[in-house]
Amino acid sequence: MSSESLVGFIGGTGPEGLGLGLRFALNGIKVVIGSRSVKKAELAVSKIQSKIPDGYISVGLNKEVAEKCDPVFIAVPYQAQKSTLEELKDSLVNKNVISVVAPLEFENGVAISKEVPAGSAALEAAQILDKSTVASGFHNISARDLLDPDALIDSDVIVFSDNDECKSITMELAKLLRGARAIDGGGLVNSRYTEDLTALLLNINKTYKAHSAIRITGIKI
Ligand SMILES: NC(=O)c1ccc[n+]([C@@H]2O[C@H](COP(=O)([O-])OP(=O)(O)OC[C@H]3O[C@@H](n4cnc5c(N)ncnc54)[C@H](OP(=O)(O)O)[C@@H]3O)[C@@H](O)[C@H]2O)c1
Repeated sequence: MSSESLVGFIGGTGPEGLGLGLRFALNGIKVVIGSRSVKKAELAVSKIQSKIPDGYISVGLNKEVAEKCDPVFIAVPYQAQKSTLEELKDSLVNKNVISVVAPLEFENGVAISKEVPAGSAALEAAQILDKSTVASGFHNISARDLLDPDALIDSDVIVFSDNDECKSITMELAKLLRGARAIDGGGLVNSRYTEDLTALLLNINKTYKAHSAIRITGIKI
């Protein structure tokens, strides 16, 4: 990734995409927040602009973001992933795509990890985007913490990809989250483990009224 790279967010108006965008912009990365509506993206960015007076953060339609950015984060709900990626597939050819999608559903207020026929949200994304390189990660980071620039990200970010360069770009971005460590989680086939864990963490958060996260012990980085 060069210093001129634009890091884009599809579905960037949600707390997770906006929070990651804020954190990266604070570290001098050029960020573009994408949406189905430019007005909605402008409104979302206006809420964080004061936190990054010197940062570069702009907005665009999801399609424009897919065309001009690399890497491109996918930060839509799982239920919207397939239709969104099918629409943007041609614009994402030969790009690095980073999925933060956790396939969740809620039953009586309890978060449940949804079964995905492809094996995980990330594997499904890679199947659809067969001419892009795909990584996944950031599943277990609380968006609320990301949106508070003073909050330490007391968590590991486990990153998965079958492509070394895409994995390395994603891990470098993860290291920008103050307090976080980037951990190589292997290939996309392993992504389902942290995707599933998201549901558990959400339920723990409810019990403890907290922002829980994960740390891997026993390794030296
Ligand atoms: N929130 C967290 O703490 C957290 C933590 C880890 C991982 N994640 C994962 O990160 C992803 C984003 O999370 P989030 O909480 O930011 O999600 P969200 O607020 O529910 O949605 C993010 C954005 O996706 C777009 N979107 C919603 N429905 C859509 C549809 N049917 N078609 C196309 N676009 C649609 C919307 O953008 P526009 O209306 O502007 O187009 C929305 O602002 C999810 O997959 C989630 O599992 C979230």
